[in-house]
Amino acid sequence: MKIVSKKRDLVNLLKPCWKGPDKIGLVPTMGALHQGHLSLILKALQENSCVLVSIFVNPTQFNDSEDLNNYPRKNSEDLAILKDLLRQEDIVFIPEEAEMYPERDMRRFDFGHLDKIMEGAHRPGHFNGVAQIVSKLFDLIKPDFAYFGEKDLQQLIILKKLTDITGSNTTIISCPIIRDNDGLAMSSRNQLLSKTERKEATNISQALFDAAKLKKQLSPIKLRESIINRINSNPELEVEYFEIVDGFELKPVSSWESSPLIYGCIAVKLGSIRLIDNYKLVNKKD
Ligand code: PAJ
Repeated sequence: MKIVSKKRDLVNLLKPCWKGPDKIGLVPTMGALHQGHLSLILKALQENSCVLVSIFVNPTQFNDSEDLNNYPRKNSEDLAILKDLLRQEDIVFIPEEAEMYPERDMRRFDFGHLDKIMEGAHRPGHFNGVAQIVSKLFDLIKPDFAYFGEKDLQQLIILKKLTDITGSNTTIISCPIIRDNDGLAMSSRNQLLSKTERKEATNISQALFDAAKLKKQLSPIKLRESIINRINSNPELEVEYFEIVDGFELKPVSSWESSPLIYGCIAVKLGSIRLIDNYKLVNKKD
């Protein structure tokens, strides 16, 4: 694999790929890689002759400076993992902040309702920052495919909208959530949990799995209430939101017949750490 930190060097490496029939697959990450990230990379490796993994903790998507400072940074461990996974022709792009933001990015994207709820409501400016960095990466790399995890469902839906807004030729590929054996969705932030918090965190995914069973008995409104109360009954956990939404517009649903695709989406605080997860509650799409 090749490792580059400058846009100029990246463009030089990509020039032959842009000219030929090669497909370029991009996997944007903020590093501290885990199996969730690796599942995206493996899919990209199957589908593209050149895979580019970016590692960049993007400051513009953090609305909380403490969260930005505490975000795990593991560049040398990440590179060791990627060295075993990537091929000779694949590229790791690890830019410095000044390389991606030589000047302040003043762009504001309009995602309508999509960034006003859930993560958007609790992390003001977060999705605008995600859109800034992802659009910069797309403009620079011009990937044929870009891989994103359903773990960040709202991000995935917003980035699909971004490609509509910008008229990008990149196709967004969604990849399923990878979970630890006890059900907890893998996340770089899990590394920040204490042993006790890590144990308690299992309650989040378990509540989502149980929600799927309880939907036979309860309306979405009653189920929402019951899940929030159940998680909050644990003194270590505090639900920031739990919304039952359709899988297209992310609008709260009032009946299980409202949409062929319905998700339960949750954010929970354990001390200072905030974890998100989601689970399909209705799938009549397939
Ligand atoms: P990061 O949190 O590092 O995640 C990078 C990609 O990995 C995202 O598409 C995310 O959804 C996916 N991912 C994380 N955990 C996963 C899991 N357990 N299963 C499947 N996929 C998982 O998301 C970001 O970075 C940033 O917002 C980014 C898109 C890189 C822009 O800065």
